[in-house]
Amino acid sequence: MVNYKDLGLVNTREMFARAIKGGYAIPAFNFNNMEQLQAIIKAAVETKSPVILQVSKGARNYANQTLLRYMAEGAVAYAKELGCEHPEIVLHLDHGDSFELCKSCVDLGFSSVMIDGSHLPYEENVALTKKVVEYAHQYDVTVEGELGVLAGVEDEVSAEHHTYTNPEEVIDFSTRTGCDSLAISIGTSHGAYKFKPEQCHVDPQTGRLVPPPLAFDVLDAVMEKLPGFPIVLHGSSSVPQEYVDMINQYGGKLEAAIGIPEEELRKAAKSAVCKINIDSDSRLAMTAAVRKVFVEKPAEFDPRKYLGPARDEMEKMYKHKILNVLGSDGKLAH
Ligand code: G3H
Ligand code: 13P
Ligand code: ZN
Repeated sequence: MVNYKDLGLVNTREMFARAIKGGYAIPAFNFNNMEQLQAIIKAAVETKSPVILQVSKGARNYANQTLLRYMAEGAVAYAKELGCEHPEIVLHLDHGDSFELCKSCVDLGFSSVMIDGSHLPYEENVALTKKVVEYAHQYDVTVEGELGVLAGVEDEVSAEHHTYTNPEEVIDFSTRTGCDSLAISIGTSHGAYKFKPEQCHVDPQTGRLVPPPLAFDVLDAVMEKLPGFPIVLHGSSSVPQEYVDMINQYGGKLEAAIGIPEEELRKAAKSAVCKINIDSDSRLAMTAAVRKVFVEKPAEFDPRKYLGPARDEMEKMYKHKILNVLGSDGKLAH
């Protein structure tokens, strides 16, 4: 049993309370490899931002859970070496799908876990989330639950399809489970293809596709039911068109990749939304930079020569999110 406090990590409780009061959101960036982690930590240190390092089940399988745990411990030491005396770094399990997986993360030194029972019938979601909370809270590990199903790539983003969170359920869910934060569905979705072109309209100025707005009425109704309760937004990549264009210019093939406009995320960050999940934008930044090197320097075969530029591009993107979208810069407690 490893306690996250011994690794220099923190849970989400205090940082979420401050984020709600301060009208900003904490970045939750997924990582699977060293370059992503270095970029995240550098961006967080240089902007003096708290940060959540997210590990998905897929990341655990890809990178090995023990190695990831030591990488997170190393991230705390790295942040200090970069000059941040009191870094606030959370190691969080993203989309945990069973009690056993969540328990194993708590036991390994994670400071926060998500139990995603959103696909289950309501009562089963309540029972599973409650079980995880009861275990995790013994070690002061915070727990994120989820209500409402995020639209998949193929799905219609539509209230008629019952994908949005039902605000009538949130009081019962949070009270009975004891979860510390709640992920809700208001029209975001995972991946780089969040909307079909036919759901969008064309911006006459830029010629770009503009997606339908998020369901802020659902968010408002949730906040009215649960005043001051930490809300989480998944699927919040913006899919920057410059990366999509760059990937396509250098031999890639991303068609009609569309994300969440930054203005909408800015608006969400000012509300009770205090954690915003971003993974796809990092994948796009990395891929765009690597493709560019491969095309411009075909003789290059030292991975540092293409992963280095990829890391720089990701750091720039992470900083932009912190400074210009989420507003978590300068928000460390000490
Ligand atoms: O929400 C999903 C995250 O983007 C993680 O994706 O399961 O492919 O690692 P992954
Ligand atoms: P994106 O695919 O929009 O980056 O969402 C990531 C996410 O929600 C991780 O849980
Ligand atoms: Zn997610």
